[in-house]
Amino acid sequence: GADADAGIDRVLWTEADVAARVTEVAAELCADLRGLREPAVVVGVATGAFLFLADLVRRVDAPLAVDFVRVESYGDGTESSGRPRITSDLKVDVAGKHVVVVEDIVDTGNTVSCLIAHLEKKGASSISVCTFLDKPARRSANFQLVGDGKFYRGFECPDYFVVGYGMDYAELYRNLPYVGVLKAEMYKKDTSN
Ligand code: PRP
Ligand code: MN
Ligand code: MG
Repeated sequence: GADADAGIDRVLWTEADVAARVTEVAAELCADLRGLREPAVVVGVATGAFLFLADLVRRVDAPLAVDFVRVESYGDGTESSGRPRITSDLKVDVAGKHVVVVEDIVDTGNTVSCLIAHLEKKGASSISVCTFLDKPARRSANFQLVGDGKFYRGFECPDYFVVGYGMDYAELYRNLPYVGVLKAEMYKKDTSN
C-alpha cells in the first residue's frame, strides 16, 4: 500500500520540532489568557488548523471555549484565490469576547484579514491571531489585530508550499505529523487562478 508521505521532498520541521515549539507558544498564550477577566474564545480555521488547535489548547491551562469556522481560498491549487469564503460560521457568540484565531499558516494574509473583519462585525472585544507558521515573504493583505489582540507564531516559514501538520495539497498530507515540502512533480498544473 501507499504511505502518507509519498511525494515529500524534505522535512522542514520534525514531529519533535513541532511539539517543542507548540509547547512554547502555548505557554505564552496561557500566560495571556490567565490574565483575562473572562474565558477567551479560541477559533480554529478549518480545515488546516485542526491539529495545531488540538495540540495548543490541551497545553493551555486557562478557561476557554473552542469553536471553528471554515474559510477556504486555495481550493485544490497552490495559489490563493485572493477571495476567501467563509463556508461555515461560528456556533459560539463572540460579542464582547476575547477571540484567538488559530491558523496553521498565514501566507498572503487574505484568510486572516477576512476573518478579523468578520469577527469584528460580530463584536469581538479583542482579536488575537495564533498561527503555527508565518510566511511574511508572501504577505499581500496586511491585517490589524483588534483591541489588546496579540500575534503569536510558531515558526517563520520559508517561501515554499508546505504540507503536513494540518496543511494539505488537494486535501492530502494533512495527517503527516511533521511539516514538509512536496516534490515539484507532485503539483498538477495549477489552474486555481
Ligand atoms: C490555507 C491555510 C490558511 C490559509 C492561509 O487554507 O490553512 O487557512 O490557506 O493562506 P492565506 O494567508 O494566503 O490566506 P485553505 O484555503 O487551503 O483551506 P484549508 O484550511 O481547508 O486547507
Ligand atoms: Mn485554512
Ligand atoms: Mg488548503
